[in-house]
Amino acid sequence: MTVSATLAANEAIAERRAAGEEVLALGFGEAGIPVHPLLRQRLTQAAGQISYGPVAGIDAAREAAAGYWTRRAIPTGAEQVLLGPGSKPLLFALLHAAGGDVVLPKPAWVSYAAQSQLLGRDPIRVPVPEGEGGVPDADAMDAAVREARRAGRDPRIVIVTLPDNPTGRLASEQSVKALCEAARELDLIIAADEIYRDLVFEPGTFPSPAAWAPERTVTTTSLSKNYALGGWRVGAARFPDSPLGERLRESVRGTASELWSSTPMPMQHAAAYAWSDPQELVERVALARRLHGSVANAVAEAFSEAGCEVLPPQGGFYVWPDFEPLRDSLAAHWGIATSADLARVLLERFGVVVLPGSAFGDDPERLTVRVAVTGIYGENDSERLAALVSRQPVEMPWISEALDGLKEKLQALTAPE
Ligand SMILES: Cc1ncc(COP(=O)(O)O)c(C=O)c1O
Repeated sequence: MTVSATLAANEAIAERRAAGEEVLALGFGEAGIPVHPLLRQRLTQAAGQISYGPVAGIDAAREAAAGYWTRRAIPTGAEQVLLGPGSKPLLFALLHAAGGDVVLPKPAWVSYAAQSQLLGRDPIRVPVPEGEGGVPDADAMDAAVREARRAGRDPRIVIVTLPDNPTGRLASEQSVKALCEAARELDLIIAADEIYRDLVFEPGTFPSPAAWAPERTVTTTSLSKNYALGGWRVGAARFPDSPLGERLRESVRGTASELWSSTPMPMQHAAAYAWSDPQELVERVALARRLHGSVANAVAEAFSEAGCEVLPPQGGFYVWPDFEPLRDSLAAHWGIATSADLARVLLERFGVVVLPGSAFGDDPERLTVRVAVTGIYGENDSERLAALVSRQPVEMPWISEALDGLKEKLQALTAPE
């Protein structure tokens, strides 16, 4: 097992900065906003909670998570919820519980494939519908699963990401419904990773698979992205109210009991507060949405102006440009033939850190990269807070400077003298 591509990128940034080199850090998917004072207060108040606590999580946190989903039109009882130290280990335990092979959209977040490989199985990757991201195309999935079964493989679970990391796109209701029907037909469990759910830029109905395939959908969330609390490590999974759901939940609880015992107690108290959606925090998430949306769109524009194909981001904080239209000139000037070459040249020649599309399972010769935009929100908490509350975040001097720097570097990459 190698270090996760996203975490490795973070380390590359630290090394270059330590060596005094300028870096435009667009590699790591950390949400980049200071902790809300009320969450800090809840955490501090609970610091004396030093026992392990129940494996599934404390009642208050499971009830709050159930309320969180119920208010989002997925009626949920506390008994359907399991907490974990982030959603990542919960997803791993779920893949373990499902057994068999894992179906992924292509591209997909790095860790799904790595987790599948930890369980001894290469994932089955299925392209996303044209112009979308985060869900496999339903017809293509049907064909791929049938083909895999004929070849003796045993696909049992499909993961979808709504909205998506790496593409920043939110799958359409039509594609999610089709996916749900196909999953039912093929008897696949659906893992709906909705960690960026509250960070969709435009208001509208949210296409949650739990609405159309309630009997087979496990939904995950966490505090890592909405509240930028990745380091606090607290997440939750919602299991279906069905015999399948009960079986999966019990298996995940068993894995939890042997791997992480319980979720850190102080974090659970903070999560119980956050998942009750108090007005102050709802407002905080609205500000985060505005910040991510305006910077992600500005970054997408910068890539588009440089000649890339790039769809407008719809949620989260990622942009997924495709340098295909520039292939000939990139090959002629820099010898670039793959996304890994592209990411390397961007880092070594221009100090721009992005991740190659191949890290997300895209074909290596496609010239896609994943750009995480939060790295330019500010150098410290006071800059990040100012960006968060600004009505025009892209006009904050350090953000507009970083955007100008990005444009210059892309110009030098794509149209060298
Ligand atoms: C799509 C997706 N799922 C899950 C995670 C992991 O989240 P957590 O911090 O809850 O383990 C991330 C974090 O990068 C992510 O981007």
